[in-house]
Amino acid sequence: MSTSCADFNSASMTGPLRSVISRVYAESPHLLHVLYELQRQFLHISDEAVREIAAHLDLPPSQVDAVVEFYAFFHKIPRGRYDILFSNCTSCGYMVRGVDLMAMFGRRLGIAVSSTRGDGLVSMDQTSCIGMCDHGAAILVNGMPITNLDATMIDSIAALVEAATPLEDWPAEWFHVEDNIRVSGLLLKDDLAEGISLRAMLALGAAGTLSEIVQSGLRGRGGAGFSTGMKWQLCRDAQGAAHYVVCNADEGEPGTFKDRVLLHSYADSLFEGMTVCAFAIGAKHGYLYLRAEYRYLLPHLQSVLTRRRELGLQGGDILGQPEFSFDIDIVVGAGAYICGEESALIESLEGKRGIPRVRPPFPVTHGYLGQPTVVNNVETFISAAHIVLRGSAWFRAVGTEKSAGSKILSVSGDCAAPGIYEYPFGVTIRQVLDDCGAKDVQAVQVGGPSGTLINSAEFDRRLGFDDLSTGGSLMIFSQARDLLAVIVNFAHFFAHESCGFCTPCRVGTTLLKNGLDKIAGGNGTRYDLDEMQRIAALVKYRSHCGLGQTAANPILDGLQRFPQVFEQRLVHRDYEPQFDLDAALEEARQISHRDDAAAHIK
Ligand SMILES: Cc1cc2nc3c(=O)[nH]c(=O)nc-3n(C[C@H](O)[C@H](O)[C@H](O)COP(=O)(O)O)c2cc1C
Ligand code: SF4
Repeated sequence: MSTSCADFNSASMTGPLRSVISRVYAESPHLLHVLYELQRQFLHISDEAVREIAAHLDLPPSQVDAVVEFYAFFHKIPRGRYDILFSNCTSCGYMVRGVDLMAMFGRRLGIAVSSTRGDGLVSMDQTSCIGMCDHGAAILVNGMPITNLDATMIDSIAALVEAATPLEDWPAEWFHVEDNIRVSGLLLKDDLAEGISLRAMLALGAAGTLSEIVQSGLRGRGGAGFSTGMKWQLCRDAQGAAHYVVCNADEGEPGTFKDRVLLHSYADSLFEGMTVCAFAIGAKHGYLYLRAEYRYLLPHLQSVLTRRRELGLQGGDILGQPEFSFDIDIVVGAGAYICGEESALIESLEGKRGIPRVRPPFPVTHGYLGQPTVVNNVETFISAAHIVLRGSAWFRAVGTEKSAGSKILSVSGDCAAPGIYEYPFGVTIRQVLDDCGAKDVQAVQVGGPSGTLINSAEFDRRLGFDDLSTGGSLMIFSQARDLLAVIVNFAHFFAHESCGFCTPCRVGTTLLKNGLDKIAGGNGTRYDLDEMQRIAALVKYRSHCGLGQTAANPILDGLQRFPQVFEQRLVHRDYEPQFDLDAALEEARQISHRDDAAAHIK
């Protein structure tokens, strides 16, 4: 849709907007990347910018506008020159006093949460988990992570912001993010040497490569555990003009950060794995969908890809094979947990809002641009690269019958050594707790808020698809923790991240959040508890996608395993309103000039 001349001439910003749009689009033709650059340079995406993009990309302005509105990291109202986001994740926020630090920062700079200071210098807000759960309290400053925050650092950061010191002049060590690898197994021992799996793959041929993956019993490491061999086979067999390989590096589940480490220190293994997949399914193009919170890893990942192209491992004629070419583009998200769901991710890759698709059809037959597409987690691709090199038997020899190989865990919370732990599948929770120095443990959240909350009687349960499955997150809560506060935090997360497409999840997650707030605030009754159970079941069984279907898990698990944390907060009345009825009548009393006892509810 074109824009009128009157619109073009209406503001002096037209020229700069147009030049940014055409430059970024020429370098990286993706709507999210254009929007990111506009947000970065102009601190917001104005209506005029929306019209300019729409004209340049030949899209309806309403579609561009909807995308801007959808993603948390795009704004229609200008942000401050320093945009500071405090992680409100249980592990890298709430448990490490992130809320107190945010309040301190606000006082120091005279700014409230979710606002921009009048002089436009600084904005402050909360954001969902930024994947730094092994690093204490964490923030993003203009997209760059700073971790291990304490009161002294908050003071220093506030002073640097007040002095408008460029980010490049802030202490470099603040931006250093450790891998914190504590236990290595099959995959973490080393990053694969460039090309080593590709040579093994070429020796096996495409059918042989696929057969090794099938026989290895590898199942997806992103959480659902679907057979990787079957997924690749279905995609290879599907008809299409082109086949695509997509790596899901969205890693938004609170408490999960293993993909951050894999992307940082095992990028060659990942790109080998994606290339192995391309060879097996007949793809020439792939995408790495990187969550916005990991944008700081982009230069590193790009440089690995560049080096691999120079070595003939990516691009045309891979390892001198004229019939095999495969290259990878990186698309960076913009702050939406739902984009980890594979069909929402594909929508986002196509430059749209991340609304999960109706399935079937599944991505293996109708994925990116409607073509056959494999979407796998980072760890899944790395496992595949190792399997092709070392053989399916090597992989199967580790783990359990239904869960072959190893699992990389992100361990956080109340333990001496949070970080990355790799174990054969079948390891007990107790073993992990012992290894990370967790004492006096009350509960463990396995697989993030969408996973399972277990109590101490269950610590001999085993990690694997046959018992406790996990995308990788293990959050530990000691006896000293207020478990209800943890569950409230999870409920806020889901209500915030619901994409709003279907009613049971959009409305239900908010009702659950409100119900929990009421109970935690000491105003809940048994009626509220029963009502919450009813809504939780509705959200679980009636929602369109995995987000809604799992959003009530912490509440249901909590009610089943830790009923006392709810019970002890209930007031002993049958019904208690969500708000203070008497206070709500104050205005009416003032208007009617009455303040006698009969004008009060209580
Ligand atoms: C709300 C939601 C968020 C998800 N986030 C991720 C994610 O960050 N990373 C991931 O690999 N899978 C995620 N998944 C699972 C993906 O939909 C998909 O199953 C996975 O990428 C497939 O890869 P795999 O077979 O290698 O596990 C998510 C699912 C849902 C419902
Ligand atoms: S379940 Fe929630 S996240 Fe999924 S489509 Fe419905 S509203 Fe969106």
